[in-house]
Amino acid sequence: MKLSTLLPLLPLATASTPASPGLSYLGHASIAASAPFSIGSSTFGSRTVFPLAGGTFIGPLFNATVPAYGGDWGLGNPTVGNFYVDARYQLKTTDGVDIYVSANGPQQPEGVLHTRVRFEAGSDTPYGWLSGIVAVGITTPVVDEDGQVEGIEIDLWRMTSPSTIAGKGKKGKKTRRV
Ligand SMILES: *[C@@H]1O[C@H](CO)[C@@H](O)[C@H](O)[C@H]1NC(C)=O
Repeated sequence: MKLSTLLPLLPLATASTPASPGLSYLGHASIAASAPFSIGSSTFGSRTVFPLAGGTFIGPLFNATVPAYGGDWGLGNPTVGNFYVDARYQLKTTDGVDIYVSANGPQQPEGVLHTRVRFEAGSDTPYGWLSGIVAVGITTPVVDEDGQVEGIEIDLWRMTSPSTIAGKGKKGKKTRRV
């Protein structure tokens, strides 16, 4: 497509800052971690495995258990001193639906981890909408008196459109019957 055909579709540029998107709370996961072990240092960094030993998820829209499989294959970079979470785990909702969760993101100076979270849930389940959202999480490691990670606490949110454009999709939607 030529640029000239695209240009008329672009909104007029304005100097004002656009309205920020919102965050809608999805829930809190509390997951135990088994003893971590190290893969060692490699060309990729220093990888540590935190096997996840199960837990719970409680949220305003649904509750679930976290089965005792999954883990975090976190990558540390000793040179710059940061840690990058790379976690995969499952949710099993109270009505028995299995949802896959993957989360990754960097540790922040204050110690918590900021993660981008992706859900995958079957379209034929009541949770299919989770596959179509953009979600973020804040993960707080729980350490015992020896400083060993014994679990993680995660708060999760989904991104919502700014109020200035929220609802436009629905109102302006053209429905076509087939
Ligand atoms: C989730 O569990 C909490 C605590 O047991 C309960 O108060 C809440 O009603 C449950 N929520 C749903 C959506 O089932």
